[in-house]
Parts: sequence; C-alpha cells; structure tokens
Amino acid sequence: MSSLSRWGLHAALLALLCCSESGEVAFEVYTWPERLVVESRGSGMVNCSTNCAQPESGGLETNLEKTLLEDQPQWKSYLISNVSQDMVLICYFNCAGKQQTKSLNISVYQLPKQVTLKLQPMWVTLGKPFTIECRVPTVEPIESLTLTLLRGKETLHSQTFTGGAPAPQEARVALNSTANKEDGLLNFSCQAELDLRARGGSVFRSISENQVLEVYEPTLNNQTIIIFPVVSVLLFLFVTSVLLCFIFGQHWRQRRTGTYGVRAAWKRLPQVFRAQPA
Ligand SMILES: *[C@@H]1O[C@H](CO)[C@@H](O)[C@H](O)[C@H]1NC(C)=O
Ligand SMILES: *[C@@H]1O[C@H](CO)[C@@H](O)[C@H](O)[C@H]1NC(C)=O
Ligand SMILES: *[C@@H]1O[C@H](CO)[C@@H](O)[C@H](O)[C@H]1NC(C)=O
Ligand SMILES: *[C@@H]1O[C@H](CO)[C@@H](O)[C@H](O)[C@H]1NC(C)=O
Ligand SMILES: *[C@@H]1O[C@H](CO)[C@@H](O)[C@H](O)[C@H]1NC(C)=O
Repeated sequence: MSSLSRWGLHAALLALLCCSESGEVAFEVYTWPERLVVESRGSGMVNCSTNCAQPESGGLETNLEKTLLEDQPQWKSYLISNVSQDMVLICYFNCAGKQQTKSLNISVYQLPKQVTLKLQPMWVTLGKPFTIECRVPTVEPIESLTLTLLRGKETLHSQTFTGGAPAPQEARVALNSTANKEDGLLNFSCQAELDLRARGGSVFRSISENQVLEVYEPTLNNQTIIIFPVVSVLLFLFVTSVLLCFIFGQHWRQRRTGTYGVRAAWKRLPQVFRAQPA
C-alpha cells in the first residue's frame, strides 16, 4: 500500500468519525485581536485559539518573524516582529481531521513625527499675499492623515488625503492668503492627525512649532500725515512767540522811553533781519 492511499484511508476514517453525526465541522478558530495595528518595523501580539476540545495541531501562518510565547492545546500566543507592510496572517487549527482557519489583517502605520510649517514670506505688507505651507515627511497610511492649518485656535484649512502608493509618503498642504491685522497677532501652526480607528487603532496627533507672521503696516505714510501738521503748528507757535516776545519787549521799552510803535520797533531790528529778498 502506497503512503498516499494510506493517508487517504486515514482521512476517510477520520471524516467518518468526525462528521458521522452532524455532517458538519463543529469547531471554530478565533484570533485576538481581530485586527492589528502596528507601527512600522514594530511588533505585536497575536493569540490564535479554538473551541475544539482536543485539537491535533494549530498555529500561525506568516512570513513574518514570529516567536511562540505560550503553547496551550486550545490557544497559542505569538509575538510577531519587524512588520513593514500591511498583510494578512492566518491562524489555523486541526480538529478531528478537519482544518479551520481565521485571517487577521495587520495595518502598518508611521506617525507624523515631524510637522513643519512655513510662512512665505515671513513678513508681509497689510493686504498683500502670503502662503502657509505644512509638510510631514513620512507618514502611513496616508489616507488616515488629516492636516489642519491653524491661526490661533481657528481652522483655516483642513485636508484629508486619499490613498495612493502604499509606501510612506510626504504629505503637503498649502494655502494662499492675504495679510490682515489678525494674522500679525496670532500664531500659525499645523496639526497632523493620524486616525487609525477604522483599522482598530487610535488617533495620534502631532503639532508643528508656532510661526509668526510679521504684518507690516504702511506706517511711514501715516506718520508723515501726523508729523507734518504737528511740526507746522509747533513751528508757527515758536515763530509767533518769538515775535510776541520781541514786540512786548519793545512795548515795555517804549513805555519807559515814552513812544511806541511797531514801525519804530521794526526800525530798531538789526539790518540783517530786515533785509528782504530782492
Ligand atoms: C488567548 O485566548 C484564549 C481564548 O480566548 C484565552 O483563554 C487566553 O488567556 C489567551 N491568552 C493570552 C496570552 O492572551
Ligand atoms: C526587517 O525587515 C526588513 C524587510 O522587510 C529587512 O530588510 C530587515 O533586515 C528586517 N530587520 C530585522 C531586524 O529583522
Ligand atoms: C482584511 O483585508 C482585506 C483586504 O486586504 C479586506 O478585504 C478585508 O475586509 C479586511 N478584513 C477586516 C476584518 O478588516
Ligand atoms: C498659491 O499661489 C501660487 C502663486 O503665487 C500658486 O503657484 C499656487 O498654486 C497657489 N496655491 C494654492 C493652494 O492656491
Ligand atoms: C505664540 O507662540 C509663542 C511661542 O510658541 C508663545 O510664547 C506665545 O504666547 C504665542 N502667542 C499667542 C498669541 O498665542
């Protein structure tokens, strides 16, 4: 008898034993967790279990590096490591000659660690355009990422990305704006949010450093408008007071000497001051 036909006979015998009553496979395989979210190059725990009372064998099917942590008849727990891309793992158990499997999806993520905000230019005249740009170098999955441009606590612009290449990508968002007074008073920042809840993970947030926009008002013109009349008035007052001093000085002298007259005072002015332009 060849080994193949012996195996066939063995299987047929087992099938007869197993399913003669119900005619159905009466056990199940479970994975815990049901899906796994792991940081890129990171590791995670997987527990394969079954409700079969006496499984013949079981295990975890994967190309990843795995370490058997605990080996019980009805469950086996593993540590899988160096996960570098999304993949599917398979837990299996053999019970009474039948095999059941359960797959487990693994999602890999990379946190938006470095969020950079740039204002271009960093100083701008009131009413003139400037650009707010935010970059995150390597992040995945990009379709779980939302970048939000903030001025103080106010959202200026928010963008969620759509999935492209599976590899980690740079995410970038930019907004053109024109400078107003508020822009000069509040800090600009950029928030990156990686929402992995749909994949069984949690929400990670990271925020850029604050950036300040120097809003340059055309103050030179305003100053000229204010300074010019002030200087004119001061000059006028100065000249008037000098004249009055002179006149009253003359008046006082006239009272002492008897006669008074602006004309006489004028005559007494030194020749240089009286010289008139030709
Ligand atoms: C694995 O799962 C089984 C069945 O749910 C449970 O009894 C066991 O405690 C789990 N083991 C670990 C290490 O979590
Ligand atoms: C992790 O996996 C990558 C490829 O996926 C491989 O190049 C690297 O050597 C692995 N690192 C370790 C520590 O096993
Ligand atoms: C597992 O991933 C496959 C695609 O790779 C998808 O079709 C399936 O719905 C995922 N299962 C779960 C439980 O997320
Ligand atoms: C902002 O303006 C520049 C030119 O000044 C243009 O190239 C760019 O596409 C604009 N960006 C957005 C997001 O509108
Ligand atoms: C702007 O940011 C700086 C430093 O990050 C902080 O000291 C300052 O209080 C912030 N100003 C406002 C108006 O929030």
